[in-house]
Amino acid sequence: MTNAPLPVKFAYWVPNVSGGLVISKIEQRTHWDIDYNRQLARIAEKAGFEYALSQIRFTAGYGADNQHESVAFTHALLAATETLNVIAAVLPGPWHPALLAKQVATISHLTKGRIAVNVVSGWFRGEFHAIGEPWLDHDERYRRSEEFIRVIRGIWTEDAFSFNGDFYRFHDYSLKPKPLQPLPEIFQGGSSRAARDMAARVSDWYFTNGNTPDGVKAQIDDIRAKEAGTGHHARIGVNAFAIVRETEAEARAVLAEILAKADPEAVRGFHHEVQNAGNASPEREGNWAKSSFEDLVQYNDGFRTNLIGTPRQVAERIVALKGIGVDLVLLGFLHFQEEVEYFGKQVIPLVRELEEAAANTARAA
Ligand SMILES: Cc1cc2nc3c(=O)[nH]c(=O)nc-3n(C[C@H](O)[C@H](O)[C@H](O)COP(=O)(O)O)c2cc1C
Repeated sequence: MTNAPLPVKFAYWVPNVSGGLVISKIEQRTHWDIDYNRQLARIAEKAGFEYALSQIRFTAGYGADNQHESVAFTHALLAATETLNVIAAVLPGPWHPALLAKQVATISHLTKGRIAVNVVSGWFRGEFHAIGEPWLDHDERYRRSEEFIRVIRGIWTEDAFSFNGDFYRFHDYSLKPKPLQPLPEIFQGGSSRAARDMAARVSDWYFTNGNTPDGVKAQIDDIRAKEAGTGHHARIGVNAFAIVRETEAEARAVLAEILAKADPEAVRGFHHEVQNAGNASPEREGNWAKSSFEDLVQYNDGFRTNLIGTPRQVAERIVALKGIGVDLVLLGFLHFQEEVEYFGKQVIPLVRELEEAAANTARAA
C-alpha cells in the first residue's frame, strides 16, 4: 500500500462555466457569475476546502455557452477569500509561458501566494480552430506542455534564464518580481501515457478524471514506476462528482434523475469532441478513452469514483482512495453552495476521524 501523507485535501470545481457540472436538464442550483462564485469560495474555505480549480474554455459545444476566463476569475476569488488556494487552468498555445509566469508572479504578490496553475493540454480541436491556434497531435501537445512547465518554473527560479526548446526560446530573461515562496504549485490534467510521463518528470500534481479505485491505482503505480530513482514525486488528485444524501437510496435517486434527464444530443456532441483527447493518444488510454454515455454526463467521468451515498459511505471511500495513494479529491456538486457546506459539515469531519483511527492502528501495529 502506498499511503499518502495525512490528511487528504479537498478541492472543488469553480463553476466559472455555465451549465453546471453535469450535461443534464435536472435542476442545478449553481451559477457561473462572480457573486455566486465569491460566496461559494467563502463557504468552501470555511467548510475545510483547501483548493478551488477554475476551468478554461475559449468555446464549448455541450451547453457551457458562457465561460469566464480562468486567470482573471481566479484572482477575483483569491481577493474575496483568506485561506483558499485557487488553481487557474491555462492552455499552452493560447498562453505564452512568459505571459503566464508574469501574471501568476503578480497575482502571487497580490494574494499572499495562494495562486496555483493547472496546465491543461487541450482536447477540443474546434476550440483551437475557432481562435486560429494550430492544433497539435496528442503527444505533441504534451511535449509542448512539458516545455511550458519547465519554462515557467525556470523563469520563477532563475535569473538570466535561457531555454532553447522546440516550442519556446528564452535568452537571459530575468523576471522581477519572482512569485512569493513557496512557488505556485503546478498541476496538470490528463490520463494518457503522455500525461503520466509528464507528471512523472515535471508536474507537482497529477489530476485525473473520475475512475474506479483500481483504475486510479494503476495510474499511480505507473507514475511511481516512471519516477523511480529520479527524486520526483507528483502528488495525485482525482475527480469525483459527489452526491451525498442522508440515505444511499436518496443519493442513488439523484444520480438516476441526472442520467434520466441527460441531454443526449449535447452528450453525444461532447463524446465526438473528446475523441481528440484520450482516444487520440497512440495507446488510447487517455481521459474518456473508455467512457460510456452515462460516464460522460459528468464531463470529467465524475460518477465513476462513486462518491455517491451517505456521509459515512463517502468518507470511507475517500479514505480508501487515500490508501492507494490519492492526496486530493476534486469535487463537483449539483447545488454547489448548499452541498459544499453540507460536505464540510457531514463528510470532512468523518474523513478526519477515519484518518486518525487508521493512523492510530498503524502506530499500534
Ligand atoms: C481535473 C482536470 C481538469 C481539466 N481542466 C481542463 C480545462 O479547464 N480546460 C480544458 O480544455 N481541459 C481541461 N482538462 C482536460 C485535459 O487537459 C486533457 O486535455 C484531457 O484530460 C485529455 O488528456 P489525455 O488525453 O492525456 O487523457 C482537464 C482535465 C482534468 C483531469
